[in-house]
Amino acid sequence: MEPQVASDGNLGRSMNVVFLSPNYPPEMQQYTRGLAEVGARVLGVGDTPVSGLAPVVRRSLVDYLQVPRMLDEEDVIRRVHHWLRGRSVDRVLANWEVLVMTAARLRERFGMEGMDPDTVRGFRDKQVMKERVRAAGLRTARSRRVRTVAEVEAAVAEIGYPLILKPIDGAGSANTWRLDGPADLPPVLRAMRSVPEASCEEFITGEEFTYDTLCVGGRPVFENVAQYLPPALVARTREELSPIIITVRDMDAPKYGDGVALGRSVLGALGMGDGFTHMEWFRTGSGEAIFGEIGCRPGGANLVDQMNWSCDIDLFREWARVACFGSFAASAERRYNCAIIFKRARGQGRITRIEGLRSFLADHGKHVVADQLLRPGSMRRNWKNTLLSDGFLAVRHPDWDTTRRIAEEAAERVVLHAGG
Ligand SMILES: Nc1ncnc2c1ncn2[C@@H]1O[C@H](COP(=O)(O)OP(=O)(O)O)[C@@H](O)[C@H]1O
Ligand SMILES: [Mg+2]
Repeated sequence: MEPQVASDGNLGRSMNVVFLSPNYPPEMQQYTRGLAEVGARVLGVGDTPVSGLAPVVRRSLVDYLQVPRMLDEEDVIRRVHHWLRGRSVDRVLANWEVLVMTAARLRERFGMEGMDPDTVRGFRDKQVMKERVRAAGLRTARSRRVRTVAEVEAAVAEIGYPLILKPIDGAGSANTWRLDGPADLPPVLRAMRSVPEASCEEFITGEEFTYDTLCVGGRPVFENVAQYLPPALVARTREELSPIIITVRDMDAPKYGDGVALGRSVLGALGMGDGFTHMEWFRTGSGEAIFGEIGCRPGGANLVDQMNWSCDIDLFREWARVACFGSFAASAERRYNCAIIFKRARGQGRITRIEGLRSFLADHGKHVVADQLLRPGSMRRNWKNTLLSDGFLAVRHPDWDTTRRIAEEAAERVVLHAGG
């Protein structure tokens, strides 16, 4: 396979880039395209058969190694090592949370530049992460690593209710529990029996935001703040809600200042290198910014699309330029607040109809940038497994209050029904 995507001429010399899981999850296809567009020779490693690769991925790869189990780290490292013997490789990259450590271990094995496993651990292990952030004098939730029931009980006694119990390396709020008193403990311990290691944390009450960056050498060349409405855990607990995420156009407003400053300091404390970061933070009633968690990869659930729609840029390609050449070529001017509204159908089985969409589009269609609602005939998705739920609408507007109002209208007026 030879790349057929036009290079945009950033190539001083041919750069060989191994990109892990270039086809899955689906947004990885966009990063693969971005790499080819900045002129990289992209070597893909994934568990999708070649025949199952999206056309854009096939066009963008110069070679592909299919492995049986992408999450079997030892096996993937062994196979990639063997596959690359005798070839020169400049980068090993991953943008999917579960593979950032595999990429770091491959880089270490090849003696290649980029973040090493210990640095990446600070972005993967929630306790190590908080300890490093705390050591830099920054505010995080009080927390303890717990492996046994006795350790949970000791942590609970020390931290007090309300508190959070969650896997030490979780994602997507899976197996994350809020406990308000001792009666909540036994059922949560039962639900978490299969989790080998957890984090027990002080519950932070407040609004929840993201702080996202694209970094060169730990310094942001692009920054973003978005608000979760409601906080992510509430969105994942109450099916009847339509969760909304809104990127903030005016990041210089006082409300976000402490969160952005916190985010920049966290990047330094954890030794960020090149690439995307996705951090979550809380703003308490008194206005204090408290660190939640951070990953050294982009946010999921179309957050990168949202950032692109906020600025009319292509961060898939700019990430590639950063990762390969350490440069960022887009304008970071923020033009819009961009809201995404995730819908969950009422009823089970197949979508039967969408109520209120036509009138919503008649009123606000010019602000809508994406309509990916599942259409009648499609099977419902499991809303617990994916924030995408039964699809989404995305809208944008230069004014925050207007953006939020339109998003809330979409949440209320547009109703998907399922049945049968
Ligand atoms: N200490 C905490 N206080 C309040 N809410 C929390 C706390 N820890 C987690 N949460 C809630 O649970 C969600 C998931 O936890 P998080 O640490 O972000 O894990 P994940 O990797 O699953 O996203 C957060 O987005 C937040 O809404
Ligand atoms: Mg999170």
